[in-house]
Amino acid sequence: MSSSYEARFKVWRGDIQGGDLEDFTVEVNDGEVVLDIVHRLQATQAPDLAVRWNCKAGKCGSCSAEINGRPRLMCMTRMSVFTREETITVTPLRTFPVIRDLVTDVGFNYQKAREVPAFVPPEGVGPGEYRMFQEDVDRSQEFRKCIECFLCQDTCHVVRDHEENKQAFAGPRFLMRVAELDMHPLDAAAESGLDRKATAQDEHGLGYCNITKCCTEVCPEHIKITDNALIPLKERAVDRKYDPLVWLGSKIGRRSK
Ligand code: SF4
Ligand code: SF4
Ligand code: FES
Repeated sequence: MSSSYEARFKVWRGDIQGGDLEDFTVEVNDGEVVLDIVHRLQATQAPDLAVRWNCKAGKCGSCSAEINGRPRLMCMTRMSVFTREETITVTPLRTFPVIRDLVTDVGFNYQKAREVPAFVPPEGVGPGEYRMFQEDVDRSQEFRKCIECFLCQDTCHVVRDHEENKQAFAGPRFLMRVAELDMHPLDAAAESGLDRKATAQDEHGLGYCNITKCCTEVCPEHIKITDNALIPLKERAVDRKYDPLVWLGSKIGRRSK
């Protein structure tokens, strides 16, 4: 079979005022990914097609889009996963406002990032003196693989079709950040009066998450967002809510270390 063929594409074109799918027939070669095809479209048929990308290696998190309705990185989606007869539809992330064509305004995520208080360094322990068990390092290392592609934020049904929930809900990526800090053995937030479990519920909307795991399914870094971050955070938040002694005990425990 010839290694080159013509594929049918539908690409969303438009801006915040509105738009529509536009049909293209475009050459595909062996080993190509969807981003290659979008670049070929730009080079041959649609020079003004807007697309955001950077690394073409699955590491910068810029080329997020929806391919046949599924949130994916365009640079990591091989054309070989589709049949040659299939029409491939590429649309912008649905949860965020469109700027133009495949480019969306992901500012919502930066706003939510700013709302998560940073790591609080423990008092009396200088840089270079931090000591942690390897298992604690490994736990947060998984979350640190995040490339901020926001595919999980895009797919989460809490905000995907509910603009009204955006104010109260940080989304899986940032609840994961809260979980990471809350399980960090050296984070001294509690000593400074910041209860991360309470803020997860009251300020970041943890209660909206009903652990459907859709966020985990689309994560290109295969981070187990729901199982390893959100569910443990929910369990700890519930413990705290129904047992105030747990909260008090954790503060005393930390102080007496
Ligand atoms: S598990 Fe929670 S955060 Fe993830 S997609 Fe489902 S509701 Fe959203
Ligand atoms: S957790 Fe995964 S899906 Fe979500 S922003 Fe990070 S890398 Fe992307
Ligand atoms: S271009 Fe960087 S992740 Fe796709």
